[in-house]
Amino acid sequence: MAAMSRDLVSLFPASPEEVPATFRRTADETGLTLLVGGALSRAVTGKPIRSAVCFREGAAPPAQAELGPAALASADDSRAALAAAVAAWKGGRGEWPRASTRERVGAVRDFAARALPLRETIATALMWEVGKPYSECLTEFDRTFEYVEKTCAALVELEGQSARPLTSGGFAARIRRAPLGVTLCMGPYNYALNEVFTLVIPALIMGNPVIIKTPRYGVLANALLAPALAASFPAGVANLLTGDGATIVGPLMASGAIDVLAFIGSQKTAGALLRQHPHPYRLRTVLGMGAKNPAIVLADADVEATAKEIVSGALTFNGQRCTALKQVLVDRRIEGALVGALAAEISRLRVGMPWEDGVTITPLPDPNHPAWLDGLVDEAVERGARVVCGGAHAATLYEPALVAGVPPASRLFVEEQFGPIVPVSAFDDPMEAVDIVDRSSVGQQASIFGSDPAVVGPLVDHLANLVCRVNLNTQCRRGPDVFPFTGRKDSAIGTLSISDALRVFSIRSLVATKEKDAAALEALEETSAFLSAQ
Ligand code: G3H
Repeated sequence: MAAMSRDLVSLFPASPEEVPATFRRTADETGLTLLVGGALSRAVTGKPIRSAVCFREGAAPPAQAELGPAALASADDSRAALAAAVAAWKGGRGEWPRASTRERVGAVRDFAARALPLRETIATALMWEVGKPYSECLTEFDRTFEYVEKTCAALVELEGQSARPLTSGGFAARIRRAPLGVTLCMGPYNYALNEVFTLVIPALIMGNPVIIKTPRYGVLANALLAPALAASFPAGVANLLTGDGATIVGPLMASGAIDVLAFIGSQKTAGALLRQHPHPYRLRTVLGMGAKNPAIVLADADVEATAKEIVSGALTFNGQRCTALKQVLVDRRIEGALVGALAAEISRLRVGMPWEDGVTITPLPDPNHPAWLDGLVDEAVERGARVVCGGAHAATLYEPALVAGVPPASRLFVEEQFGPIVPVSAFDDPMEAVDIVDRSSVGQQASIFGSDPAVVGPLVDHLANLVCRVNLNTQCRRGPDVFPFTGRKDSAIGTLSISDALRVFSIRSLVATKEKDAAALEALEETSAFLSAQ
């Protein structure tokens, strides 16, 4: 077990006065807002929200900064949000599910217009809560609202296509996409804004009332948007709850009234949620779960360029990306050279506080994670692995660890570390890497580094059937957001992208008649919103 690093302790500020003035928090920024049935309320409790960032005081271990009292929604708040969403859906007869595309797009654009002035405030809240570098928090905000606008444009295009009548086999039909019902949206803390709103906005724009349960960390960043949601959508259409998952989500799932579960997080939580719903066939699921994406490094790879790309892929935001490279599988002939290049690249990363320029490694939001990471490394070392560099930690800071010779029997070889550890294992034949991906319980993405078509081509063919995106000489990632984002096995259910998300939050529904009566479809455009292209 690594000892507490005094060097790392010294990177934490000693007091709030050591934080640059623009990033200091003020008491009125708590943003503790619940949104239930169109009404904003402040359910303040004594329990504080804790920051990833710590303050050091004297010889005591650094303590997490407190960001104000948490708003813990009660089971009654949760039931009220459900009742409001059910009323807004009204068996599909509510105003929102029957609203025209123009009306829904208008409400979403109105929401974006109210949210955009909060850019810096939300990025700062996100930075304090999850410890993400401030520049990346700004990028996350911008990416999210670009996604929102592109979603609006994609829906207008989709509706334009589906407005065309279809004739076949003597029948005429008008096929449209219809909403699914009450949707529970739960995103993860690592993309606490982006992965919440890239579920929420497509769900809403397709006509589904939503209940948002904010992530474990990243509560403030989402709650700050509650007033914009309240002002932009009809009462009950968008509800937002913060607090304890078991208290809030249990009653929602057990009610059987949730029609869609949109969840990005762990398989364990997804399984627990699904088991609570009494009608498994009625429930639609959109799930993003675990991944152990490998970097497969072939003998002819450009070692320096590959090391640079792997370090970025493995350690951006401390490795806390579902798409992060979580395992390096390298041809044994270049193992030594690659490990040396990785160590050199890691040594150039700046460890520090998230408001500092150029910082990559920052405090982790889960204070228990460093000790858990330590356990993974220790177990791998007991089984024969070697720590090349890093692994020291202090409070919420964990210095990135490069661990070589990680054996298949170790937990680090199999489990998703979701943190700043780069495990390296060697192979003699690239097919061994394919077998490792095949044996894994997850299958999101893989990266291949190398250029010999005779080796890369067949590898692509094997991996394309084991994961859902093969990256050549580049790290794994979700974006650009027009690309389909999904996974096989225990990694995902459903596909997300700007256009795919519109499809997963809706179902095709049609009105058909005999071709000789096709004019009747047009005649109904006056009285049926479903049949008119608005
Ligand atoms: O945590 C998973 C994120 O969707 C990853 O997104 O690959 O663009 O960083 P990214």
